[in-house]
Amino acid sequence: MRLTKMNWILRNFIFSIFLYQTCYGVVKENFKECSQSSFCRRLRDIKPDNSNYILNLNTLQVSENAVESELLNSAENVKFKLVLTALAGNMFRVYADEVSPLHKRYRVENILDGEPQVARLEVLKRTEDEVVVQSGDNKAILKSKPFKIEFYKNDALVAVVNGRGLFTIEHLRAKNVPLEGEENQVVQEDPGMWEENFKSHHDSKPRGPEGVALDITFPGALRLYGLPQHADKLALRTTGSGGLDPYRLYNLDVFEYIIDSTMSLYGAVPVVYAHSTSNTVGAFWLNPSETWVDINNSKDQNVVSSLVNLVSGQASESRVDVHFMSESGVVDLFILMGPMPKDCAKQYTQLTGVAPLPQYYTLAYHQCRWNYITEDDVTSVVKNFDEHDMPVDTMWLDIEYTDGKKYFTWDPIKFPHPDQMLMNLTSTGRHLVIIIDPHVKREGGYFLHEDALSNDYYVKTKDGNVYEGWCWPGSSSYPDFFNPSVFNYYKGLYSKLKYDNVNNDIMIWNDMNEPSVFNGPEITMPKDCVHHGGWEHRHLHNMYGMVYTAITYEGLLQRNPNKRPFILSRAHFAGTQRYAAIWTGDNMADWHHLAISYPMCLSEALGGISFCGADVGGFFNNPEVELLQRWYQAGVWLPFFRAHAHIDTRRREPYLFAEDVRHRIRSALRLRYAHLPLWYTLFYEHEKFGEPVIRPLFYAFPKDPEVVDIDNQLLVGDSVLAQVISEPGATSAKVYLPGGSSQYWYDIRDSRKYVGDGYTSLSVNLDSIPLFYRGGSIISRKDRPRRSSTLMHRDPYTLIVALDSNNSAKGTLYIDDNESFEYRKKKYLYIQFEYKDKVFTSRMIDNTDYETLEWIERVIIVGAPLGVEKAVLTSKSLGTVNLETHYGEDTLTIRKPGVSVRESFTINLI
Ligand code: GLC
Repeated sequence: MRLTKMNWILRNFIFSIFLYQTCYGVVKENFKECSQSSFCRRLRDIKPDNSNYILNLNTLQVSENAVESELLNSAENVKFKLVLTALAGNMFRVYADEVSPLHKRYRVENILDGEPQVARLEVLKRTEDEVVVQSGDNKAILKSKPFKIEFYKNDALVAVVNGRGLFTIEHLRAKNVPLEGEENQVVQEDPGMWEENFKSHHDSKPRGPEGVALDITFPGALRLYGLPQHADKLALRTTGSGGLDPYRLYNLDVFEYIIDSTMSLYGAVPVVYAHSTSNTVGAFWLNPSETWVDINNSKDQNVVSSLVNLVSGQASESRVDVHFMSESGVVDLFILMGPMPKDCAKQYTQLTGVAPLPQYYTLAYHQCRWNYITEDDVTSVVKNFDEHDMPVDTMWLDIEYTDGKKYFTWDPIKFPHPDQMLMNLTSTGRHLVIIIDPHVKREGGYFLHEDALSNDYYVKTKDGNVYEGWCWPGSSSYPDFFNPSVFNYYKGLYSKLKYDNVNNDIMIWNDMNEPSVFNGPEITMPKDCVHHGGWEHRHLHNMYGMVYTAITYEGLLQRNPNKRPFILSRAHFAGTQRYAAIWTGDNMADWHHLAISYPMCLSEALGGISFCGADVGGFFNNPEVELLQRWYQAGVWLPFFRAHAHIDTRRREPYLFAEDVRHRIRSALRLRYAHLPLWYTLFYEHEKFGEPVIRPLFYAFPKDPEVVDIDNQLLVGDSVLAQVISEPGATSAKVYLPGGSSQYWYDIRDSRKYVGDGYTSLSVNLDSIPLFYRGGSIISRKDRPRRSSTLMHRDPYTLIVALDSNNSAKGTLYIDDNESFEYRKKKYLYIQFEYKDKVFTSRMIDNTDYETLEWIERVIIVGAPLGVEKAVLTSKSLGTVNLETHYGEDTLTIRKPGVSVRESFTINLI
């Protein structure tokens, strides 16, 4: 029977929605394995130790910051240009491109946070075989034949590029035309080089093969971290053995994703960190096309090779090898010379940027669901939170608020008065985030579609027609955000969301921006679709979602230049932190997905994207009550804290449960709100110094080999340690307390002191997960419970002084107006607290000015010295005042210093 076109489309649509929405568990077959991708097969098939690439050092050109040389593929007689540049901040850049390509190769723009600053480089030695260059205490040796580059930190070898000879740039070629001298060779071609099928999809590959790859060896490394986003352990696993596919970086909408997997998810950040107890070094592979990464960690050597080492007496020094393989583009690699995890993280953000300080309320609790169905629904949820004394700051609207999934419109029946609804929210300090997805409903009369059609704004098919795919609205097209006219047009749309009387307050959730196309290959856009400038989608796929969020960011700024935009994005790439927060996508309401939320967000934080969270409760299915409580308790310690649920799940707003459950969730929420000053200070410090807001243990304790695999614990800044509890009925938890016997840790719940002696067994109940303050830190809290963070703005501070083994502690506090960009004009306070020799001092770090009524309500010294009889405050405005003190079991509380946070002061304990 012949299907009419309409029938066929309808069938396809229903089938794709069915697949997307109702299948249980990921349909793995919908997504490629390396063996099903021609370029991955080709690049992975290259045999090691047989490199055809020769650096022709006779052609070497030296400048103040770089050396440049011809690089020859001797087997195919194709010339490339290789440039090694020294960058400021202890980095090198390795760049390689074809000398005379058949077409221009795709070179990514606007991903880096500006052009990196260069550093001086000196040539120490130059022969035909090698060139030695130095920049600060970093050295690089470029070897001619076979081509490789060794990197040294203080004369210790830390990384080798092309040590295994897997460097490849597939030169662009005309189909079936052999190169000079190759006429008689039988060239073995991979069947998918010029066109490729996957399931029912055909990829026409008009430019043929154009893959790029290289290997990096990290001698001495114990573990490799990075490459978010994968639902996997923090420490990357050896691929290849046991059939484990390479880690894949190709932004995809993976339905009900599985955990402990190297499969692609929604984001791709191609940076790795190789870590040993003496050194950490990073590598950032700047390429937005589909990328696969093989990893070999010597710790996972098989028994045979370990025996060979034993017999041959070879010391099996640990090392990690990594092999980046991308479908297209040029080689653009950054070596981050560390030498510590902290340095690498800063080097990476120096290249790709930091997250600008978010508005204060965005760090508080967000309540989302697909969907709050009417304006009354929204109002009543907030009312219920209030009635049950549970704080919430932000309500979220998923796709059902729109008029028939047409973004920038409101459903006229369910949401007839959005401005009124917003005003109701803002009157109690609440906020609203609404979803705007990139697909555009193809419906006559819809202004966005009409504008896009008449201005030629859509992405095209390979044949030059407007590309049409299926997403939430049904038939949809996708604006080409790479076109500057589209960028300008689309960002203007956000001003349409302006309600003059309510303070321009609506913020934005950008979803489905991988982009998700239900009937596309692997649920995304065909690779041979065409963007502005004639580039195919394959060349830039992984940055589509990020460019979309950049537009949103600009649009929100245009709407209100003095309000910090908030955007949540599902797709992400290197640099997304400059525009958006991200989350771990459509997770499931099970214990495994709760557990994986910590390593997933830690990995993102190392990849520069600290503002990360997971749907609290799990998106798909209904969590058991115990799981829901544990999820709230764990979610408190991830930077983005939002509950969300699928449309088919039961309502699970926390006030709906029995009082004991409500009590636990209320306590978790209050714990988050109490620590908002800490989160805010950390985000400020992230913007200023480039360090992640949450950190794995190895980051803070790089010399401890025991912590390299720990990813169920995290540090908030360097002062709070939290551990997720991810099994039901837990009565005890094995917690690793790092730092050695002189490092104290204090249980947040009862201030009991522990030393950092390694594993300890802690008894737990349903009321809390393991939480510790690190001895030596001063943590600022706001302890008065309120309905929203906005209402806490003028509340006083409680300072927790957690003493170290020398009876001292330090901490910082950052304060500003919580929402505007005035802080960039010195309208803030950045305060240093210190406790030493029984004297507590507060002083301003920067010479700034910010008016505030906030004051210090109490100072609690944890691990307090005994025998204190008096506390005497001295400040300019208050003079000398005796303060009340009170000893608890392990604490000393100094009551009501009453001093403004704007003032420097001291408190002497006598
Ligand atoms: C996607 C998002 C999810 C959202 C849904 C409907 O699945 O990941 O969070 O609720 O789309 O918009």
